[in-house]
Amino acid sequence: MSTQIDHLMNESRKFAPSAEFAAAAVASADLYESANANRDDFWATQARELLHWHTPFEQVLDWSNPPFATWFADGELNVAYNCLDRHVEAGNGDRTALLWEGENGDERQVTYAELTDEVSRVAHVLEDLGISVNDRVAIYLPMIPEAIVAMLAVARIGAVHSVVFGGFSADSLRARIDDAGAKVVITADGGYRKGKVSALKPAVDMALADRGNGVQETVENVLVVRRGGNEVEWQEGRDLWWHDVVPAASAAHTAKAFPAENPLFILYTSGTTGKPKGIVHTSGGYLTQAAFTHRNVFDLKPESDVYWCTADVGWITGHSYVTYGPLANGATQVIYEGTPDSPHPGRWWEIVEKYRVTTLYTAPTAIRSFMKIGRHIPQKFDLSSLRLLGSVGEPINPEAWMWYRSVIGADLAPIVDTWWQTETGAIMISALPGVTETKPGSAQVAVPGVAIEVVNEAGETVANGDGGLLVVTEPWPSMLRGIWGDPDRFVETYWEKFAAQGYYFAGDGARRDEDGDIWLLGRVDDVMNVSGHRLSTAEIESALVAHEATAEAAVVGASDEATGQAVVAFVCIKESHKDVLKDTDALVKNLRTWVGEQIGPIARPRDIYIVTELPKTRSGKIMRRLLRDVAEGREVGDTTTLADTMVMSTIQSKVTGKK
Ligand code: PRX
Repeated sequence: MSTQIDHLMNESRKFAPSAEFAAAAVASADLYESANANRDDFWATQARELLHWHTPFEQVLDWSNPPFATWFADGELNVAYNCLDRHVEAGNGDRTALLWEGENGDERQVTYAELTDEVSRVAHVLEDLGISVNDRVAIYLPMIPEAIVAMLAVARIGAVHSVVFGGFSADSLRARIDDAGAKVVITADGGYRKGKVSALKPAVDMALADRGNGVQETVENVLVVRRGGNEVEWQEGRDLWWHDVVPAASAAHTAKAFPAENPLFILYTSGTTGKPKGIVHTSGGYLTQAAFTHRNVFDLKPESDVYWCTADVGWITGHSYVTYGPLANGATQVIYEGTPDSPHPGRWWEIVEKYRVTTLYTAPTAIRSFMKIGRHIPQKFDLSSLRLLGSVGEPINPEAWMWYRSVIGADLAPIVDTWWQTETGAIMISALPGVTETKPGSAQVAVPGVAIEVVNEAGETVANGDGGLLVVTEPWPSMLRGIWGDPDRFVETYWEKFAAQGYYFAGDGARRDEDGDIWLLGRVDDVMNVSGHRLSTAEIESALVAHEATAEAAVVGASDEATGQAVVAFVCIKESHKDVLKDTDALVKNLRTWVGEQIGPIARPRDIYIVTELPKTRSGKIMRRLLRDVAEGREVGDTTTLADTMVMSTIQSKVTGKK
């Protein structure tokens, strides 16, 4: 990490916003001033200005029982009303909300009035299926308008959605359905990915198949959107076609008010243990910060901008910056179903040209893969509509930042590098376009109303120029309210490390430069970041050891030029299954497929090394640090604490022998 820090610290380029951009910018330096004057008043003002409250709040933050916060707790609102009806009532019903592009070239444009009607119909359907306040609904859909409709319909009736990324396996879906106790699953027959239909319904069927282990099935109905046109099996009484029930429902649906602290959604994310955490977000505070950051960080001009966030709604970025932030702000946005290179490598840029996209929000891994293909592809398209670029999900290296700026942004569009997490709910660190002088590779400054520090192990703020751990020192409106069903884990994971100071520990390393700007340096725990997706080493290890031939497994994240980090696994085979060692290529292939089935294709290791032993300390702890050295082709660090110091040389010869 230190070479990375040195490299980053040599970065001295700065880009001031153009006078023209600054003059028309939505954000201003005053925001920092008013937030610094009184943080609670600042957020209360934002909540009142950006949202409609059925019952206005008096209370702002209640931090009397830390780390359990409430925001605007005596206020009431309806999240879907805020994203839909109020825009129609304000005379903007004809404004386009969604410009949807299917991977196969299908198109749909949906206005705010149409979206309001569709959400209302689905709200009726869900109510007719017995869903009410606080019930959980799992959503397992491709990137089609119905994904957004489903989320908003659940929100509209005060229920709680749990969106499961369509790339997750039946097992992962099962675990999430069970943990949340979902009553309904909303899915599709399939969706288009990489030029063909990728089926989804069979995974739902598999997830809901009788497991014969006595666990009570909570799911009563499955609502199925027809998208892929692929054949699906049908369970009468349980399964319903969307097109049979939704158009038949009434488009008149009253959005009732719910308390601001009503849970809005659960979103599962990887932690340091094998079991994903169900991060819980509530309504009023979450929507306030999602809307505030979406407006100010993306300089939103709702009448003229065409905004495009490339994230899937299966991730937090899709929740806050596809569904909730943009729609609360009345934005017009592009939604794209497929992969960036289907059917040709210029697909994204073709979409930018076609819809005259003004604001693009994507991940460094995508930018790096476009860099690899070469600038001649984007240069074939007219990208002159782009006026602002965003980055999220992992540190963006200065080279990728500069390429993004010059090739995609024509050296004009400001870049906002936004740091945040599933847990933070909304952007926490970012430049404000038109206000901040940007620096390639640095996420820079906390957004107004958010308090960030870089501290040492003792919780003391480090001096500018030094590295440490990233913490949030004050509660913020969109903060997670807990881990579903596990308050102890919530406290342990995020609040115990700096309990004395009352800081939220993010799990990221960071450094402040001489200007006080923040540079993110990656995770400091056993969480990996592969193509901007969070994966847990423990989760993949437990998938590997669930394979009948595996005795033990250790997984590390190794740096990878294209994906940021890559999953590298070291696996020991059981004596009883020694036979499989006769064909290690087949074994490795088999284990990769297995992990794909257990968790999802994104979790498949890039490399799997079959080893006879893992490096362990005398107390039996696996020394992943040493395995990471091997996986990254470095000289192996200090091995003196190993129980058997020879283990590493055996492993190393195995790995180098393979390359
Ligand atoms: O390590 C940080 C990295 O992604 C983690 C959060 O992952 P997730 O909850 O999946 O949310 C991703 C999208 C918000 C963080 O702990 N991360 C996210 N954004 C950045 C980042 N690292 C560096 N720079 C960023 N802009």
